[in-house]
Amino acid sequence: MSEERHEGTEARRHKVDAACPRPEVIDRAAQLIRSGRLVAFPTETVYGLGANALDADAVRAIFAAKGRPGTNPIIVHVATLDAARELVREWPESADRLAASFWPGPLTFVLPKAACVPDIVTAGGETVAIRCPAHPVALALIRAAAVPIAAPSANRSNHISPTRAEHVLRSLGDAVECVLDAGPTASGIESTVIDLTSEPKRVLRLGPISPAQIADALGEPVQSGECPRPGVARSPGKLPRHYSPGVPLVLIRRGEFDSRKSPGGATVGWLALGDGPAREVSKLTRIDMPQGPAAYAARLYDVLHTLDAMHLEHIVVTMPPDDEAWSAVRDRLQRAAGLGAER
Ligand code: TXA
Ligand code: MG
Repeated sequence: MSEERHEGTEARRHKVDAACPRPEVIDRAAQLIRSGRLVAFPTETVYGLGANALDADAVRAIFAAKGRPGTNPIIVHVATLDAARELVREWPESADRLAASFWPGPLTFVLPKAACVPDIVTAGGETVAIRCPAHPVALALIRAAAVPIAAPSANRSNHISPTRAEHVLRSLGDAVECVLDAGPTASGIESTVIDLTSEPKRVLRLGPISPAQIADALGEPVQSGECPRPGVARSPGKLPRHYSPGVPLVLIRRGEFDSRKSPGGATVGWLALGDGPAREVSKLTRIDMPQGPAAYAARLYDVLHTLDAMHLEHIVVTMPPDDEAWSAVRDRLQRAAGLGAER
């Protein structure tokens, strides 16, 4: 990156203290949102690329900046329950229960959309996805803008979601004019998406809130994994390769690394998970991942971004244990490997 370009990049990054965001920085960003421009901002999951959700032209600019297909709907972020209610035709009791348990937080509700939500936000569909994020900077921005904010993850379509402002700037380049930088995000993987329009209610995307937690709060079972219904768009985040980094990613079982043939002299990155040391592998970058699912999720995309920038020939990942607590992490790894398991 040239010096000039670097300076340009830095000018677009605005540091904010998550604990106490400076009102003048938030107000300037909110002003951009109100005037139809894009602002990247932190949430507790990943950074989002935000626009006024009620302004179809502004939302169109998100699709252009990301290179996102127009068939993939966008989540609308709100700061209050009242603001969420205004976006829907019906607000079921299930939404009240889930909001009481998990909002603000990493759970997105899919509900019948109100007429005020432009079609471009929902990719022409009859439902809208809504969430109230738990990050103080996101909430301050939404409140100051005084409009709901449509925001997908702030990365080029099909690339890894950003968990740091640097990732946003690297992925979107000049397409984003303002990034609020509050440091790394906490959860590290995208919100759980639950469809409240179907019976049983259905988890469309696994995430930090597990299906069991949702079922507990609702007092009824939920279905995990989508089953396409006629006339209802699939959640396109479920498509294979959605989260792929630029280098091939191979999943292995614990302890399998040594027995893999290392291609002669290949540069390899390895996300190990308590595996023993690798033998006779040169040009290996080994990263020892945290051994708990929440801490692993918080680091995953950051590590993949780092390895992605190293021009490796491939990345090897030791698959985490096959239990419920790891299901969202396994889901993202399978997608990154292009396996995109339907679940
Ligand atoms: O944690 C997150 O959810 C982050 C932060 C920024 O909030 N956002 C995020 O947005 O991950 P995105 O656009 O990268 O992923 C949104 C997912 C996609 O899989 C999309 O297809 C699905 O939500 N989605 C959006 N609206 C939907 C709808 N009306 N029905 C079904 N799925 C929907
Ligand atoms: Mg995304």
